[in-house]
Amino acid sequence: MGLIIIYEALMYLLVLLFNCAAAQVSDPSVLNCSTPNIVWPGSDVILPCRLQPPLSAESMRVEWTRPDLEPEFIHVYQDGRFLYELQNPHYTYRTSLFVDQLPNGDVSLKLSRVTQSDAGTYRCSLPSVQQEASVQLSVVSEVIGSDQAVQAVVGDDVILPCHMEPPVDVTTLTVEWTTRNGAVVHKFESRKDNTDIQNDTFKGRTSLFHDEMHKGNISLKLINVTLTDAGNYTCFVRKLIQQKKDNVGLFVDSKDKKGRDDDSKASSTVPTGPTNPPALTACHITLIVAAVVILIAGVVAGLVWWTRQRNRRQNQAEAPENIPMM
Ligand SMILES: *[C@@H]1O[C@H](CO)[C@@H](O)[C@H](O)[C@H]1NC(C)=O
Ligand SMILES: *[C@@H]1O[C@H](CO)[C@@H](O)[C@H](O)[C@H]1NC(C)=O
Ligand SMILES: *[C@@H]1O[C@H](CO)[C@@H](O)[C@H](O)[C@H]1NC(C)=O
Ligand SMILES: *[C@@H]1O[C@H](CO)[C@@H](O)[C@H](O)[C@H]1NC(C)=O
Ligand SMILES: *[C@@H]1O[C@H](CO)[C@@H](O)[C@H](O)[C@H]1NC(C)=O
Repeated sequence: MGLIIIYEALMYLLVLLFNCAAAQVSDPSVLNCSTPNIVWPGSDVILPCRLQPPLSAESMRVEWTRPDLEPEFIHVYQDGRFLYELQNPHYTYRTSLFVDQLPNGDVSLKLSRVTQSDAGTYRCSLPSVQQEASVQLSVVSEVIGSDQAVQAVVGDDVILPCHMEPPVDVTTLTVEWTTRNGAVVHKFESRKDNTDIQNDTFKGRTSLFHDEMHKGNISLKLINVTLTDAGNYTCFVRKLIQQKKDNVGLFVDSKDKKGRDDDSKASSTVPTGPTNPPALTACHITLIVAAVVILIAGVVAGLVWWTRQRNRRQNQAEAPENIPMM
C-alpha cells in the first residue's frame, strides 16, 4: 500500500514538473519600456527598456530608431557590435547600450548631451523575438514670458502669460513665479502648489492653470490686483541647479515699480520605482506542497512497512510454539 502511495505521488509530481516547464516555455519575454523624466538640454538620459521576464539579448539584433528621421537608425547592435555605419549623423558619438547588461535583457539606450531636437518618439525593436516598444523623450524648452506689460486697474483679475517653447510637459518640474525682489509669488513643485513658502501678500490670490501645464502653459492668474502688485515678475522652471526663466511686467494704474532679480533655490523630483522581490509562482508553491506531501507519504509508508515486518517477525517467532508436534 505504501509503495502505491509513493508511486502515485511521484507520478503527480512528475506531471506538475512537466506543467511548470511548459508554463515557463509558453510565457515569453515582453519588451517593457518606460518613459524617462523630462530632460534638460546638455544632460544625459537613459531610455529604459528591458525584456521581462529577463531573457539575454546578447546575441540579438537590437534596433533603436526614430521613425520620423531619415535615416531612422539611432543605434543598431548586432553580432556583438554597434553598426555605426547605419547611424543617423545627428547622433554620432552620443549613443550607447549597456553591453554588460544585455545578458539580463536590459537593452536601454543611453543618449548623451541631449539637444532640443532629440525630443521625440524612439522605438526599440528586437526582431528575433518580435518585440517592439516606444519611448517618448521630452526635452526642456525655452521659457517665454511677455515683452509687453500686462495692464490692469486696482481690483482686476489678471493673467501673467508665460509658456514653454516648444511646448513641453512641466508637471514633473518645479515652476515658480517671483517678484523682482525675490518674493515668492507662487510655487509649484512635486506636482502640486506649495503655498507654505508663498509671500503673504499673494496668499490666496494666485493660481496656475494645472490642466494647461502638460502643454507647457505656466501662466499665472493673480486676482484682485493692488497698486503694490505693480512691477516685474519672473517665471522659472527648475530642476536641481538648472533653470530657465523669463519676465513679465505688470502695470497697475501707473504706479511704483521695484528692485532686482534673485535666483537661488533648487528643487527636483526624484523618480521612484517599486522593486519587487522575485515572486513565487503558483507553480513553485504547488511543487513545494507536493514535495512535502510525498515526504509525509514516504514516512507513513515506511512506518507501515516497518510495523508489518515486525509483526511478521513476531508471528514467525511465535509459529514454532503454535505448531503442534507431529
Ligand atoms: C513593466 O515594468 C514595470 C515597472 O518596471 C512594471 O510595473 C510592469 O508590470 C512591467 N510590464 C510588463 C508587461 O512586464
Ligand atoms: C513679501 O513681499 C513684500 C513686498 O514684495 C516684502 O516687503 C515682504 O518682506 C515679503 N515678505 C516675505 C515673508 O518675504
Ligand atoms: C494658458 O492658459 C490660459 C488660461 O486657459 C490662457 O488664457 C492662455 O492663453 C494660455 N497660454 C498659452 C500660451 O497657451
Ligand atoms: C480685494 O482686496 C481688497 C484689499 O486689498 C479687499 O478689501 C477686497 O475685499 C478684496 N476683494 C476681493 C473680491 O477679494
Ligand atoms: C521691467 O522689465 C522691463 C522689460 O521687461 C524693463 O524695461 C523694466 O526696466 C523693468 N523694470 C524694473 C523696475 O526692473
